[in-house]
Amino acid sequence: MIKMHNSSLSRTPQNVEIVPRNRQFNIEEVLATNWHSGDAFKTAFFDAMSILFPLGEQFFIDSVKEFREQIEDPELQRRVRGFMAQESIHRREHQRYNEALCRARGVPLEKMEAVVERRQDFARNHLPPVQQLSATVALEHLTAILADATFRNPDGLDGAHPEMKALWHWHALEETEHKSVAFDVFVATGGSHWRRRVSMALVTIEFTHHVIRNMRILLRDYEGSRMKLWIGGLKFLFGEKGALRGLMRPYLDFYKKDFHPWDHDNRELVSSVMSEFGGGAVNPV
Ligand SMILES: [Fe+2]
Ligand SMILES: [Fe+2]
Repeated sequence: MIKMHNSSLSRTPQNVEIVPRNRQFNIEEVLATNWHSGDAFKTAFFDAMSILFPLGEQFFIDSVKEFREQIEDPELQRRVRGFMAQESIHRREHQRYNEALCRARGVPLEKMEAVVERRQDFARNHLPPVQQLSATVALEHLTAILADATFRNPDGLDGAHPEMKALWHWHALEETEHKSVAFDVFVATGGSHWRRRVSMALVTIEFTHHVIRNMRILLRDYEGSRMKLWIGGLKFLFGEKGALRGLMRPYLDFYKKDFHPWDHDNRELVSSVMSEFGGGAVNPV
């Protein structure tokens, strides 16, 4: 039994509610098209991330669940339940997304997932639970800053099919609501900042590698110039109006010794999206 540290030091604002919204999206047909602005790169970028989510989110749930019984703080217990409920609905919707996508495009979902599955099997069989949780903490920060960029840089989804845009906004909103749960559990278990720093360095390489790999598979039948496609794509991601611009600082903040996910207080930014989906209070007090 691990001695749980007092989690009351969590800097999660008291008024952030984790609200699982059981949404379904009507996306089957649109996934057969370049649903983002008729643009192959933009579409493949989002689709490549979606491919990673069902397995990834199951891993997140399992790694937090491992410590659930040992959490003494009832508030953190409650937030863990909200986190698990949100992630399992995300899993379900992205599984539907991925199956429809791969059916429509004739690409092998199992093959894309097999690589990730092998990595996860290794982690489950060889790494201690706290190390698995540490990887989850790092990946949850990556998803939190990507979610933040979705709202901060709206150009990133400008031109996307409205139902697809709604799905990505829904997911980004809920990732923001639960962004500190795995972190707070990790701190409560006594997880060290060194461990999470190393995890972040490793999962950044891993996540980027898997996204690029999936994009290459999804774009394998692209008929135009690949050079132009990737140069244009990098401009879309990191250019003056890039979808991922401004991510470096919040990314690097994770490596600070006293970092906490809510140091990036984006409640106001997210509250403007909440009216679309309903849910808890996130407005700054
Ligand atoms: Fe999620
Ligand atoms: Fe998450």
